Amino acid sequence: MMLFGNQLVPDEEVRISPLDRGYYFGDGVYEVFRIYDGRLFEVQGHMERFSRSMAEIRISLPYPLEELENLLNRLTETAGIPDGLTYVQITRGAAPRSHPFPAAAAAEPVVTGWCSPFLRPLKDLENGISAIVREDIRWHRCDIKSLNLLPNVLLKQEALDGGAGEVIFSRGGVITEASASNVMIVKNGIVKTHPADHHILRGVTRSLVLRLAEGLGIAVREEAFRAEELASADEVFITSTGSEVMPVVLVDSRPVGDGKPGPVTRLLQQAFEASIP
Ligand code: PDD
Repeated sequence: MMLFGNQLVPDEEVRISPLDRGYYFGDGVYEVFRIYDGRLFEVQGHMERFSRSMAEIRISLPYPLEELENLLNRLTETAGIPDGLTYVQITRGAAPRSHPFPAAAAAEPVVTGWCSPFLRPLKDLENGISAIVREDIRWHRCDIKSLNLLPNVLLKQEALDGGAGEVIFSRGGVITEASASNVMIVKNGIVKTHPADHHILRGVTRSLVLRLAEGLGIAVREEAFRAEELASADEVFITSTGSEVMPVVLVDSRPVGDGKPGPVTRLLQQAFEASIP
């Protein structure tokens, strides 16, 4: 089953027009939720961010946000997937191709969503992954979870082609985030991550991890840091819905610290794990 508008329908009943503005302008926003034990995780954080993304690009959900939350819960229950992801997106709808917004009466926003199995990346969580650093070639509104992901797609592929697991973005020498996750470094026991401004997505996992760090008495600074600080960090990790708290042990082929996941990363991984229902 898929979510289509305000209904759950068999996949083959979803009909999207080739004139959908999501299709030719990427004119829409999306959200990815984690399913643990058959249920959505951190629902409130994702719903609030989806609502904000829609408001920032001036698309209105054609029904109340609570109804969407109910639909996504039902979609997830119906899917019956113990470990997975639930995806939802909204576009400005179908209209003849012209840059300005169509008149409200001429286009109805299109909501679609589905669930897919996704297993916790246990091996990588244990051993860590490698990353490359590349210039952040995205726009200046990365706080909006927009469908326009071409820079993320191209640079992630470049990372994979070179045998790395992730690409970390540097905007004029300042580390912002990664292709589909936030980046944190640890130096002398202090966690640093880019402030949640227009140059990063305010990750739901990022917010959870910052709360967990505070609970553990770990010092946190939401402060921009440069590529040199990333290179000389004691520990590096990324956070996202799928990656959780993922150690990065190699950056541009150079080991981070002693090349193994560090103690602060491990503490945060344990706290994260404990927060999974
Ligand atoms: N990506 N930064 C970017 C650019 C992202 O695309 C994501 C999430 C994050 C982490 O956000 P969260 O902790 O809320 O998942 C940070 C999703 C999972 C994706 O596009 O698949």
